[in-house]
Amino acid sequence: MPLHRRHLIDIADFSRDEFDSVLETAVSMRQVLERPISRVPTLRGKSIVNVFFEASTRTRVSFELAGKSLSADVVNVASSGSSIEKGESLIDTFHTIQALGADLVVLRHPKAGAPDLAARNLSCSVVNAGDGLRGHPSQALLDLFTVQQHTGDIEGLKIVIVGDVLHSRVARSGIWAFARMGAHVYLSGPPTLLPPHFNKLVNGDDGIVRIEHDLDRAIDGADVVMALRIQKERMHLGMLPDLREYARRWGITSTRLSRADRRALLMHPGPMNQGIEISPDVAYGEHSVITEQVTNGVAVRMAILYLLLAGTPA
Ligand code: CP
Repeated sequence: MPLHRRHLIDIADFSRDEFDSVLETAVSMRQVLERPISRVPTLRGKSIVNVFFEASTRTRVSFELAGKSLSADVVNVASSGSSIEKGESLIDTFHTIQALGADLVVLRHPKAGAPDLAARNLSCSVVNAGDGLRGHPSQALLDLFTVQQHTGDIEGLKIVIVGDVLHSRVARSGIWAFARMGAHVYLSGPPTLLPPHFNKLVNGDDGIVRIEHDLDRAIDGADVVMALRIQKERMHLGMLPDLREYARRWGITSTRLSRADRRALLMHPGPMNQGIEISPDVAYGEHSVITEQVTNGVAVRMAILYLLLAGTPA
């Protein structure tokens, strides 16, 4: 079933059917990727432009591989080396990309709302690949997919998201996505990085999302533990006493993880600060699905591109 939308900007307005549609399509895409020649002609004749105005490894490379596996033409634009450096405005850049014949633009930008601006100014599809602190919808979808591949169902699972929730677009999109799929979402972290109103993020309700600053209590019996990157670049804001203290209270260690369910999944969107939010022995240990998240990113992004572009004229 195609998505009844032209753009993927935010996960907050995704319906349950849309989640299911992406997750089911990603299963087929993963089968394509497991073939000796992992390429299908589905998007032949379509042009995808990856516009990344902020650093990225996983998201940029996986959107590029996803487009190529579907036989689309894919080009990459970074702010460095583009006419943005000569002072071209963002809107003029969008118009230029449109004039060059893009069918879909994947946009990462440091400012929240940049993908909405692109969607208003482009007649082609726009996919948000991370905008400021606001959202990272394709990450949320690949996180759901990774969990679903292991558990079969997300409804009723206890999901703990721990760390710098305040500055995390991954957390914002993940909270919505897991809550919409019926999971019990627990947020943990230092009070300075975990605003009290975040328990009302979804539908303004208490109860769907809970805050538990004590990580040992939060992690008790958890099915999924997702550590967030401590954004060291924000340390100058004085929101953390120091990184050693953070690691002691909110770092994921094997001792801490032993409080979770014995089949618990350990996730991290990357890039990781090993020894701070996650200890090296668990980062690639028996519970870790962190490299699977990266691999699944390609199949899920193939599903997104396919569902947005299939059926549109070449
Ligand atoms: N998870 C994530 O967005 O990683 P990148 O910044 O490497 O794309």
